[in-house]
Amino acid sequence: MRKKIVAGNWKMNNDLDQTIKLINELKSLITDSKIEIIIAPSFPFLKIAVDLTKDSNIEVVSQNVNDNSNGAFTGEVSISMLKSIGVNTTLIGHSERRAYYHENDELLLKKLNLAVENKMRVIFCFGEELSDRKSEMHFDVVKNQLKNTILKLDESSINNIVLAYEPVWAIGTGETATSEQAQEMHQFIRNCISENFNEEIANNIAILYGGSVKPANAAEIFEKKDVDGGLIGGAALNASDFFNIIQANS
Ligand code: 13P
Repeated sequence: MRKKIVAGNWKMNNDLDQTIKLINELKSLITDSKIEIIIAPSFPFLKIAVDLTKDSNIEVVSQNVNDNSNGAFTGEVSISMLKSIGVNTTLIGHSERRAYYHENDELLLKKLNLAVENKMRVIFCFGEELSDRKSEMHFDVVKNQLKNTILKLDESSINNIVLAYEPVWAIGTGETATSEQAQEMHQFIRNCISENFNEEIANNIAILYGGSVKPANAAEIFEKKDVDGGLIGGAALNASDFFNIIQANS
């Protein structure tokens, strides 16, 4: 059985006080949960977030990681640094990293390989742009993104990967993919995994949907067969909205 997951990507939001407040609010709402709950605060607050969530059902993950083990990479953060404070999962490949920091498939594969080597779990993000969808190239684009990255990993490392399909046109726009569009793409992604690896791996990998998931639309998206949960941006910054989204997947 695949695990259901709801993950909140806080992006570059929340200072120290806001981070503490939001975590405490979440902890008081989430007293018991059958699904996996994840939050990704900013780097400076990961340690305090790990400490605050120690006795809760919430896992703290990072939004990014560098593609090198250590060394002269000013301003960057390594896997071993994250692991040393109890962060064992990271996002890789978010569309904002791809668009604003020019992270391409080659770099993302390097990050993936390093994460796999160091037993860091990865939530790997990908998805097409609006122009790709309009020109009906979305399946090709997504297949290519996968082919150049996770489909190059070896079979044994895939169990430490979660996939997050986030169509760029739905991120922060309020325009969600319909539940049919999400299901259609998730099924396609699972087929790609099955063809490249095998059916068992495809059936076991969690595929999250991200892009304007809100309390009002979460249940409809999560009830689709190949949607195992969500990667939530804006709505994850509000404790009761995030909690309602978690409830919608429980
Ligand atoms: P929104 O939920 O704000 O659209 O963001 C989605 C996202 O990018 C999560 O990583």
